[in-house]
Amino acid sequence: QAISKGTYDSYMLKEIDEQPAVLRRIVQKYFSDDRIQIDSELLHELAQADRIYIVAAGTSYHAGLVGKNLLEQLAQIPVEVELASEFGYHLPQLSKHPFFIFLSQSGETADSRQALVQIKDLHYPILTLTNVPNSTLAREADYTLLLHAGPEIAVASTKAYTAQIAVQVILAQALSQEKELTPSKPLAVQQQLGLAANAMQSLVDAKEEIQALVQKYFSKQETVFFIGRGNGYAVALEAALKLKEVSYIHAEGFAAGELKHGTIALIEEQTPVVAFILEGQTAAHTRGNIREVVSRGAQAIVVSQRQFSQKGDQIIFANLDERINALAAIVPMQLLAYYAALERGNDVDQPRNLAKSVTVE
Ligand code: G6P
Repeated sequence: QAISKGTYDSYMLKEIDEQPAVLRRIVQKYFSDDRIQIDSELLHELAQADRIYIVAAGTSYHAGLVGKNLLEQLAQIPVEVELASEFGYHLPQLSKHPFFIFLSQSGETADSRQALVQIKDLHYPILTLTNVPNSTLAREADYTLLLHAGPEIAVASTKAYTAQIAVQVILAQALSQEKELTPSKPLAVQQQLGLAANAMQSLVDAKEEIQALVQKYFSKQETVFFIGRGNGYAVALEAALKLKEVSYIHAEGFAAGELKHGTIALIEEQTPVVAFILEGQTAAHTRGNIREVVSRGAQAIVVSQRQFSQKGDQIIFANLDERINALAAIVPMQLLAYYAALERGNDVDQPRNLAKSVTVE
């Protein structure tokens, strides 16, 4: 069935814009009377696990990195995030009672399927988080949670990434409740996801600001760096991937503290460095890293929910609980990738050499 672009020129922009609605839909689907609705058998089995392994590829892997932080913080369970292509052939020493979560927009990625088959042979419990009901990974898992993002057509994944984060927050919260934990810092998940949807809406409504940034700094640059700490690091990896996929600009995501251990050698006059400051704990350190690159000629762009007196441009979004603000922080970076691709005359929906779903290993 053909999915219409409506008034949009590209699926990518349409799907970026749909994110606030997707987030609201996820809340509707997973909450009833303020209570989370997730299969009790799944929660019971998850609560028995001594370790969760998240297995995924590409953008879904990056969503898994945020999911790890959420599951560890909210449900107090150790989590490993594994690249499907590595995991299937180099199984790590597994814990005694592992539980596997496969993240896949399409539910068809061959690397993930290969890993899933291995795990199935070992008879460990498997949950698939996917956007496609009845996809291969959904059918082969014991449990499925749907992303409810609606069909994602553009090759570069946008709304499925934020949907994966949102469903993982809900799952982490449900697991915390199942384990009867009393968190020292409770997270009002339903309310926070609503606020995140509003924050996303303001960001997509301010597209021209991102377009102007692209025209200012990204039209001639061939290398861009993204840095951050904690979830900011995870978002930096996804932001770099998005830019590479559609604009073909060389981009790298780094843990902010690592830049000085090597890569800072590449900073030249006007190299754009986008820094995510998403947590209070490490904000001062990341600001220090920004000063280091700026003093070497870099052009800094800070993405955060607070205004800092700092050289360079800033993209500010509304105040959210810092455990979930990755949901908002990625949106301007999706737009940045989109406008950089447009500027270079690329096909944003069908970038060269890429496929929406990679069904070969
Ligand atoms: C392909 C797509 C990526 C996607 C990855 C994993 O490489 O181009 O956008 O992130 O596959 O896909 P999945 O459907 O498993 O999330």
